[in-house]
Amino acid sequence: MSEKKDFKRTTVTAALPYANGPIHIGHLAGVYVPADIYVRYLRQLGQDVLFVCGSDEHGVPITLRAKNEGKSPQEVVDRFHQQIKESFMEFGISFDHYSRTSSQVHYETASNFFEVLNDKGVFEVKVAEQFFDAEAGQFLADRYIKGTCPNCGYEEAYGDQCENCGTSLSPKELKNPRSMLSGAQPVLKETKHWYLPLDKFEPWLRDYILEGHQEWKSNVYGQCKSWIDQGLQPRAVTRDLDWGVPVPLPEAEGKVLYVWFDAPIGYISSTKEWAAEQGENWEKYWKDPESRLIHFIGKDNIVFHCIIFPSMLEAHGEFVIPDNVPANEFLNLEGKKISTSRNWAVWLDEYLKDFPGKEDVLRYVLCANAPETKDNDFSWKDFQARNNNELVAIFGNFVNRALVLTHKYYEGTVPEQGELTEEDRNMLTQARAIPSLIAQSIENFKFRDALGQFMELARIGNKYLADNEPWKLIKTDPERVKTIMHNGLQLAAMLSVYGEPFMPGTCARLRNILDIHDHSWKNESETSLLVSGTKVKKAELLFQKIEEEDVRKQLEKLEATEAENQDSTKKTKSMIEFDDFTKLDLKLAEIKAAEKVEKTDKLLKLELQLGDETKTVVSGIAQSYAPEETIGLKVLYLENLQPRKIRGVMSEGMILMAENQSGELSFLVPQKPMDSGSSVS
Ligand code: 2FM
Ligand code: ZN
Repeated sequence: MSEKKDFKRTTVTAALPYANGPIHIGHLAGVYVPADIYVRYLRQLGQDVLFVCGSDEHGVPITLRAKNEGKSPQEVVDRFHQQIKESFMEFGISFDHYSRTSSQVHYETASNFFEVLNDKGVFEVKVAEQFFDAEAGQFLADRYIKGTCPNCGYEEAYGDQCENCGTSLSPKELKNPRSMLSGAQPVLKETKHWYLPLDKFEPWLRDYILEGHQEWKSNVYGQCKSWIDQGLQPRAVTRDLDWGVPVPLPEAEGKVLYVWFDAPIGYISSTKEWAAEQGENWEKYWKDPESRLIHFIGKDNIVFHCIIFPSMLEAHGEFVIPDNVPANEFLNLEGKKISTSRNWAVWLDEYLKDFPGKEDVLRYVLCANAPETKDNDFSWKDFQARNNNELVAIFGNFVNRALVLTHKYYEGTVPEQGELTEEDRNMLTQARAIPSLIAQSIENFKFRDALGQFMELARIGNKYLADNEPWKLIKTDPERVKTIMHNGLQLAAMLSVYGEPFMPGTCARLRNILDIHDHSWKNESETSLLVSGTKVKKAELLFQKIEEEDVRKQLEKLEATEAENQDSTKKTKSMIEFDDFTKLDLKLAEIKAAEKVEKTDKLLKLELQLGDETKTVVSGIAQSYAPEETIGLKVLYLENLQPRKIRGVMSEGMILMAENQSGELSFLVPQKPMDSGSSVS
């Protein structure tokens, strides 16, 4: 197993995000935070490590978005590439280089890679029938086609993958296929493509993964085993599309490389760009057998990074193959699957605006709650609790006490460590064992455990001060207090060094306060990190409380999204049967009373009269109507909508509104006098 091998350097890649939307907490928790922790740790060890990423700018999600927005794919990727790059930088993900797959270097690198494989006769070239949208005049590869998953029955499965069960698919496997371009039933038409014969790589893959990498995370190893055991099929690596890297063969006019062929080559292109800028040699990070290649990805990318890309690298012959692929599962948000298209996410750029200076809080919460072995949930309440009860109350509180007392008793000078008691010795032994535990966990990609061990250090510090009560002893035994404070400050120093991979901004601030300049990783903390006599700066709060109000605003944002999603479900353009329409119980309702829902900006609680009946509805209209403006209006009301609780109020049904482009809302009122309760059809 590779664990035992000694490597000279590490090449770390983080999945290239699609440039079709901003980064959200799911991406961060699954890929970028763990990758960044790992890389920062290796850098602290003084290892040669390269951390590359970039935007994935090809593929159907991008062309579909461009089509929906009436823009060119290039316009879409230009916008999101810039935005993604900036928010990663602001958040502190420490890539050595962040590239993009529409770059010249990438086009050359990907074309060349294809040519090498083609020249070696690796591909099978086949003419086969593929789904074609006759209305749109286009072949329907990958996400241009949807249908029912043959594996789990999910009706929204894509032509390349079912996002519900993770199965990798080909369009022909879908039941009831439909075109994403026109909604039409596709027809079959012949086309020629280049296939990577994965079936031929099967023995090699068995050897490489099933025999050679039993140390991989069980979720990753298990998925690989199940694919290999099911039997691998040749996979087309070209597409009939006009957005992507052109296939570099004269007979392939009008065809581009499959996005999953070119995207992982993007890691190589990114390295090349970095090396050119730095005057470095890119090849040593990819071709030297003493380079260790690690891919950080989400679980939906496992097949591409463990089966397809390694087969490509192996077929090429000059490259190292991935030594580990620590894929994470998914993070949900408030109990629901994160979704870019449904805007159900916490977007990084918005978080950075809403919580300036709190990058480390998000890193902490996402790592503490990382979906390492199973899907996990992010909730704003948990975010608040972890910040207030852990970062503020344990880490922040300990450091603050240690610094404040040092200033109070010694004007900021680290006192000498006098004679140690047995309790001191035990505490120090316990604390000094922690860095190697953290290191071990990080090296095994167990970042949650590592963070837990780090926080244990802060807990030890808190307990040490609470047990010894230097603030009482100062009157009776000031010499003893010097030792206690010295030890406490050593712990604070350890926090500032060993917390660097998890909370780099905070730890840099703390090191600055403690006047510590070397933050290299020492597993055996025999030597003290802080020298007696050092002047430390005044305490500043490392963390601030997150207030109820902050959480409320975030929850309200999500509620508005939920309401919009319900609206847009209404706006779905697909045809419905008349019977479907008759299921709606639409009425005229008179608004009798209206008031703002407490602590919200958008919601009004409305009392409605329908003939003899009264109903209560919570409606997201407060930014278009003041409560008093609504009284007496007869409005369009959907009665038989499943009641649901919004902000503690049971809302029965829904008011229907017209909405213009700028989001302004208007009631739909009858043009003639009409009684409340009149039916609408
Ligand atoms: O799933 C995704 O978001 C892909 N854009 C990841 C690509 S990773 C790599 F291969 F480039
Ligand atoms: Zn499925």
